[in-house]
Amino acid sequence: MRPSKQCLRSDQGAESSFLFWFEVFLFLAGLRKGIAGNFNEVNLLKCLWLEQERWSARITSLMKRRLLSLSLPIILLGGISLFGEEKAGVSEEKSVKPGINENFLDPKLKVDDWLKRFEVESREVFHEKEKVLEACGIKKGMVVADIGAGTGLYSRLFAEAVGPEGWVAAVDISAPFLKHVVARAEQEGQKNITAILSPENSVSLPPNSVDVAFICDTYHHFEFPRGTMKSLIRSLKRGGTVVVIDFERIEGVTRDWLFGHVRAGKQVFRKEIEDAGLTFVEELKIDGFKENYFLRFRKD
Ligand SMILES: C[S@@+](CC[C@H](N)C(=O)[O-])C[C@H]1O[C@@H](n2cnc3c(N)ncnc32)[C@H](O)[C@@H]1O
Repeated sequence: MRPSKQCLRSDQGAESSFLFWFEVFLFLAGLRKGIAGNFNEVNLLKCLWLEQERWSARITSLMKRRLLSLSLPIILLGGISLFGEEKAGVSEEKSVKPGINENFLDPKLKVDDWLKRFEVESREVFHEKEKVLEACGIKKGMVVADIGAGTGLYSRLFAEAVGPEGWVAAVDISAPFLKHVVARAEQEGQKNITAILSPENSVSLPPNSVDVAFICDTYHHFEFPRGTMKSLIRSLKRGGTVVVIDFERIEGVTRDWLFGHVRAGKQVFRKEIEDAGLTFVEELKIDGFKENYFLRFRKD
């Protein structure tokens, strides 16, 4: 699936052909859907407007003889469905937790407020991030999808781990978070992160492209888990893995707020993910995890 790099290398030698073909794929898929009339005019206009914005940004950056990836384009899909069933899926699959993403979907979301919640030592997945990273088994050159990337805490770590030959897709439904992810990556000179604004029932990634997908504190936020997992599985390479970190939900043990917030416990989520088509591999004990668990699945 990953095309040869030689054919599209820029003269500065670091532009990823993967990103290029990914963009072409998204563009054609968007057009295909447009031609098929499978989304409304507003979305079609949005699609074309965003595409032209993206391509002009690309051209501008190339004209400045900078690498494309320095501009770190946000691929704003804005309701485009790449495959016909996704749009249908929204209406057929009922939200399993209506309103759970209200805050994240607010265009006025204040990223700074969420940074104080997500990137603090008191949060297990922040405090133990190095152990989690190691457990994910990321290797140089891999393509990693951080599904529900939030402020990009793990996207940045993955970008380091995969190196310049690898790629990280920071996927989220929240535009303000993704703008922050892009700005921060630019600041830190990380050229191998692409932010992808996805609809709520699809991860909007090309088929057979992902080595490792990472879903941290996010599975319980999926309002349409069947559609989302179906598209995620399609995006995985054969043998690709999915790490799910979420909260234990145990009556009498789990804090009251958390118990109400997380719609189901580990066994229910595991079964949903297996039913979606992934094979359960293992549960790993991460030192320092008291409220969270770490599960690994594989696409056979
Ligand atoms: C609690 S935050 C976790 C963020 C990040 N993974 C972390 O652990 O710091 C949940 C994130 O999932 C995103 N989200 C919710 N539903 C999603 C979906 N269907 N697809 C992608 N992202 C989603 C939210 O916008 C939010 O950024």
